[in-house]
Amino acid sequence: MIKRRSLLLGGAVAATSAASATGAGVLLLSAPASSATATAGIDPADIAKYTLKMPVPPTLRPHAASTTTDYYRMTMKEAYKEVIPGFQTKVNTFNGSFPGPVINAWSGRQAVVTQTNNLTVPTSVHLHGAHVPSSSDGGPMDLIATGGGTKTYTYPNQQAHANLWFHDHAHHQESETVYRGLTGTYLIRDNAETRLGLPSGNHDIPISIRDARFDDAGQLLFEMDDFFNRTVILANGKAWPYFEVAARKYRFRFYNTANLRSFQLALADSSTFSLIGTDGGLLAAPFVTQSVSISPGERADVVIDFSRYPVGTELELKNIIAQAPGTPADVTQVLQFRVTRTERDTSVVPAKLRTLPALPTPTVQRSFSLLMDESQAEPAYAYINGKEYDPQRIDTTVTYGTTEVWTVTNSNQRVPHNFHVHLVQFRVLERNGVAVTSGPESGLKDTVPLGPGETVKLQATFGGYRGVYLYHCHLFDHASMGMMAQMQVV
Ligand code: C2O
Ligand code: CU
Ligand code: CU
Repeated sequence: MIKRRSLLLGGAVAATSAASATGAGVLLLSAPASSATATAGIDPADIAKYTLKMPVPPTLRPHAASTTTDYYRMTMKEAYKEVIPGFQTKVNTFNGSFPGPVINAWSGRQAVVTQTNNLTVPTSVHLHGAHVPSSSDGGPMDLIATGGGTKTYTYPNQQAHANLWFHDHAHHQESETVYRGLTGTYLIRDNAETRLGLPSGNHDIPISIRDARFDDAGQLLFEMDDFFNRTVILANGKAWPYFEVAARKYRFRFYNTANLRSFQLALADSSTFSLIGTDGGLLAAPFVTQSVSISPGERADVVIDFSRYPVGTELELKNIIAQAPGTPADVTQVLQFRVTRTERDTSVVPAKLRTLPALPTPTVQRSFSLLMDESQAEPAYAYINGKEYDPQRIDTTVTYGTTEVWTVTNSNQRVPHNFHVHLVQFRVLERNGVAVTSGPESGLKDTVPLGPGETVKLQATFGGYRGVYLYHCHLFDHASMGMMAQMQVV
């Protein structure tokens, strides 16, 4: 495990999405003295923008199906991809695709996925946001051996439509394995969502956004907590790509698959779009906004209407989150939409999207504090409630079926965190004492950002399955250092 003090401060200025989510403006924190000084590797300014076309990840087809179940196979393996123009970069893939393919699941219909590991490290495949038995949750110690080891995961999909994703979760490895590419998209759809008439088919596009750092040979460079040097922005596996659209409405499901970086996405002309959903599917009603923030692991499901632009328009998607002094301006660019044609559009964004599940009365209250070393002291640490992750220890015992309120605090002065809970979709009741009643945090969530000093109150009902599940900071480098714990539902 790498826990070098000098590296721990990186990420300190990953200004969190929390402030903007609450409309309070964006936090800007002072940078550690060491920030933005290293220059090893390709300078983002030397990478041509908007020359690669953004791919849409391929949809994975089941290899077999029964009346109840779709059966899928994936192989984790290395491949070479043109991630930055002119280079072939070695990446981790599912089935040769970077990022991995899309599974289109249907609520109530089971998916069984057999994973084969042909990478050089053991892996564990976790389906983020899913309500699954502990044995299929892809826990940190539940490893698939290298050299062709396999594991079959059963996903019951007994949950409503949601924007899920899968990624490696092997303890102490996941931050690097994910950084090198081991992520993929998993959409659960249902009738309630489908009958709304939102943009669909070729107009419903998942986009995974992340950052990376490349050496002079165009290969991915990984160091723990290397936030300030990961200044190349990738969308669906390409650095600063372009994407051609018709002058009509599109649904984009943005995934933040970065290890540390939060994004605040906005159109270059500051025009509005509709946030229709987040982690656990649709909001109750569309939220019209000029920007949306996603911390690592979070999703933003948006509809952008390009019908207001003439054919020929080029429109950037920007990252307007506050940056530390010295950060290259390149990280404020994400991708470029090109309006290339007109097209008939019968899709709609209804004023009412769904009825969120009622909130049962909670019977248990707990508190969690996230804290990592931000001094120069040794040894470095990354804690939840004063402890590092220990796979042998159960930190929280939850009685099956209970509804609980968890008060989660970021106890750091400078370092942002977020908080992700396996097994459940939760609700954000309060942020810093202010009730959340509408807007981006009002839907079903599985990951929530926490700026320095911030506190959120979350409510979840722990039913469906018994067993051991994780909760952790989803800044993967922090989780790898130990900011992770486990609950047992008994
Ligand atoms: Cu995205 Cu523990 O997971
Ligand atoms: Cu998860
Ligand atoms: Cu963290």
